[in-house]
Amino acid sequence: MLRRLHPEQPDSFEFTEANLAWAKEQITKYPAGRQASAIIPLLWRAQEQEGWLTRPAIEYVSEMLGMAYIRGLEVATFYFMFQLQPTGSVAHIQICGTTSCMICGAEDLMAVCRDKISAKPHTLSEDGRFSWEEVECLGACTNAPMAQIGKDYYEDLTAEKLGALLDALDKGEVPQPGPQNGRFASEPLGGATTLTEYTNASIKMNASAQLAEDIGDTVKRIDGTEVPLAAPWTDQAGTRGA
Ligand code: FES
Repeated sequence: MLRRLHPEQPDSFEFTEANLAWAKEQITKYPAGRQASAIIPLLWRAQEQEGWLTRPAIEYVSEMLGMAYIRGLEVATFYFMFQLQPTGSVAHIQICGTTSCMICGAEDLMAVCRDKISAKPHTLSEDGRFSWEEVECLGACTNAPMAQIGKDYYEDLTAEKLGALLDALDKGEVPQPGPQNGRFASEPLGGATTLTEYTNASIKMNASAQLAEDIGDTVKRIDGTEVPLAAPWTDQAGTRGA
């Protein structure tokens, strides 16, 4: 697949104030003169802020790190996690199409995306609110087939369940992430057969799904305000620890 900059680009990019503070802290992780090592987290933050990685964002980050634009472009075009075209303003749906998900119904999920979003991946829906793509294994094979939506996993999906998720997102709701078939985590479908002393009927969600629920930011774009800035490697005076 050719990975090129999108033909339509915004005029400029700037980090939000909070994201800029976050980015500057990331740079302090690396020794003086090695700030280019922060390229991936900074590009990722830019993408999370805007939903996709624009040329002005790549150039802005490259300038922040004292890198030639071409070096930033090389990184952005190499890694498939960087979206080089606009994504849906509500959600970008990433359907895993690798072996476990494929044999458990990923094609059916992609058919839902073709039907409800757009016939082709990496293309906005008519209203610009959704987009989708097929991705490689996301490491949740036990709960196949699955999709990543925003920052969360929606697992044990069926075509009907994915359709309902998309409808809910369209109405402004944020569906509960995690297994969608009542499973707690990745235990056998018939229920846990080992470590049963750790099961607790009062705990309704696995830790990952619970954290998503608690933070409540799942499909929301990151503007830097969701999670307090944490840079434990610097002391309060702003100098790097030993
Ligand atoms: S094959 Fe889909 S998550 Fe691994």
